[in-house]
Amino acid sequence: MPLTAAIDRNLALEAVRVTESAALAAWQMMGRGDERAADQAAVEAMRDALGALAISGTVRIGEGVEGAAEKLYVGEKIGAGAGPKVDVALKPIEGASIIARGGYNALSVMAMAEEGGLPQIPDIYMDKIAVGAGLPEGIVDLDKEPAENLKALAKATGVAVPDLVVCILDRPRHAQLIAKVRETGARVRLILDGDVSGAIAVARPESGVDVYMGIGGAPQGVLAAAALAGLGGQIQGRLVYRSDADRATAAAVGITAFDRKYALADMAGGNVTFAATGITDGPLLQGIEREGRGIVSHSLVIRSKTGTLRFVEAHHVVDKNPPKAAKSRRKEK
Ligand code: FBP
Repeated sequence: MPLTAAIDRNLALEAVRVTESAALAAWQMMGRGDERAADQAAVEAMRDALGALAISGTVRIGEGVEGAAEKLYVGEKIGAGAGPKVDVALKPIEGASIIARGGYNALSVMAMAEEGGLPQIPDIYMDKIAVGAGLPEGIVDLDKEPAENLKALAKATGVAVPDLVVCILDRPRHAQLIAKVRETGARVRLILDGDVSGAIAVARPESGVDVYMGIGGAPQGVLAAAALAGLGGQIQGRLVYRSDADRATAAAVGITAFDRKYALADMAGGNVTFAATGITDGPLLQGIEREGRGIVSHSLVIRSKTGTLRFVEAHHVVDKNPPKAAKSRRKEK
């Protein structure tokens, strides 16, 4: 079935239901110290919600390869079946360890594109650089030093380098990158986790972030690209191999050009929808909150076709629609 405008519009709002379901399930596991159980609960809820979606979907980025992951594995067919053929990238919890420790900035995210629009990317690291909308194409490049990128960005935006803010994941592997950025005089915003929202921040003026740099998850790179496809920004990514095992993981999903630089369109091509729901409070979205006997969720959905960004605040009546109880798979000792 072709992806007509009406179907596409409806699917965008349906996508929010999917991330809401996963977020609500994950939230029930918040702060319980059990990352695996939280992830399991969110995966089950997301898969159930996807089952009701009028799509004939294929998971391109999911919970792992078939066999290693039981549900939402790469290649799994999802959706009610009688709808347009779409590729799906998802992370029921972006930041499972955040949920386990009751931390800040966990999201549930998914992206959908026409068949062929999303690549199969291995779950390894990716070096990324992202900037917001309205800048000359290729203004920053992974092959350039931070000083060169920041100088070009400052010139294009008409601000001084010290006024630029660079968002970077706070990891020991970024010590040299952080030092190089600071040497230029630019300021650094370190985030503990959640580089999908870190990369999206470049396209949200209120975030105060001008550029995202550094190494995070490759699946997160594709999800950020899907959001930027609608918000209007640029992102480049290149897979990072820490071992032969990483190369084998990449080869297993069909990667042959190991050092390829992925542009935004390589990671999120064609007509793309991106949806996210906050699980815990973060700069992009508020987390799930209690409201009397109900629950409030905060989501956003972005369509690349129109560039529309919608914020969706949902007030869930728990008695009428109780979120499913999470099943823990933790073994008893
Ligand atoms: P997970 O949900 O896979 O744990 O991802 C959380 C996250 O912070 C991502 O946003 C980021 O891309 C990745 O971890 C970075 O990985 P690491 O924690 O190994 O540095």
